[in-house]
Amino acid sequence: MASSGIILFIFTVFCICAVKSGDFVKVECKAENVGQYGQQSLLECVVKTGETVNDPTIRMVAWKKLTSPEDEGDLVLGFHSGKLDRPKRGYRFAEPLWDEKNMNVSLLITNTAVADDGYYKCMVITDSGDDNMVTTLKVQARYSVPTVHSIPEKIVPNKGSTLICESRGGYPKGTLRWFDEEKHEWTKSSEMEVTQSDAGLFQLTSRLLLLRGSTFPKYTCAVFNASGDKEDEITFETKIHETLIDPDSDPTKPQPETSKIVAPLVVIGSLIVGLLCALLLYRRRSQHGHRQVSEALQHVEEGCNSHEDEPINQDQS
Ligand SMILES: *[C@@H]1O[C@H](CO)[C@@H](O)[C@H](O)[C@H]1NC(C)=O
Ligand SMILES: *[C@@H]1O[C@H](CO)[C@@H](O)[C@H](O)[C@H]1NC(C)=O
Repeated sequence: MASSGIILFIFTVFCICAVKSGDFVKVECKAENVGQYGQQSLLECVVKTGETVNDPTIRMVAWKKLTSPEDEGDLVLGFHSGKLDRPKRGYRFAEPLWDEKNMNVSLLITNTAVADDGYYKCMVITDSGDDNMVTTLKVQARYSVPTVHSIPEKIVPNKGSTLICESRGGYPKGTLRWFDEEKHEWTKSSEMEVTQSDAGLFQLTSRLLLLRGSTFPKYTCAVFNASGDKEDEITFETKIHETLIDPDSDPTKPQPETSKIVAPLVVIGSLIVGLLCALLLYRRRSQHGHRQVSEALQHVEEGCNSHEDEPINQDQS
């Protein structure tokens, strides 16, 4: 154990001296690369050398796809003994005429798939030293413009209905959200279902429940990508106004606006009539001696008196 410790110590000192003297080889990669599904993706890595390294030559390059950052990985592109080593279809050096003197060892994925998302390791051995570096590729696919349809197809005001919004072909997992025309959000009244195609792309389906009596004329379904940015939206018209003025629509539905106005009017009207009668009866008794009672007042009095004789809750019919 002691001897291995000493060896490690000597090795470390040697490495520090080597770096300090400018005698180093380093692989430098862009930490995060973004690729669009179905298009070319570039994973950028270059070999940097210290100033004392003169005219370096690359002996070996291995680009590996990892399932986790610590994983051994699968070779997707290799260069060894002056020639390409078992390159996987669709993976090549980004530099079209790459050779062992070219320090730009970037990887190009020609037709990016969802499976290409993840960690990559770039290992380089030169005649002056070696290094490796892990980098990532984030694959993105844009969701299609959503479509909305309703069940039933014709929305009836007094029955519940469902709006169904769909958007497909996106990656990573996004969300569908619902808004009314005043931009008030209704997503909490909806349920979203996510399915994945064989290619790994997501299909989002959201069902918004419209309760009877609380349906807006318009709803917007918007698709948001994994970073929470809106990608697209569509507005659906429930045509609920057209059905409301339709004479065929349900006649038993109460007219909320009219009843709200009529009820207080009836109450106020009864109060006024009652007060007027009380006032007139009082006046008649206090002015018993007076002969000059107008005919109009007498007429109202008669009305009041006859009212007094009527039984309460009399059936008018
Ligand atoms: C490496 O090569 C690729 C492809 O030619 C290029 O797009 C990229 O900018 C190069 N990177 C550097 C650091 O030169
Ligand atoms: C989401 O969309 C924005 C704007 O279009 C874009 O910049 C971002 O990269 C997208 N993110 C994902 C994960 O697709």
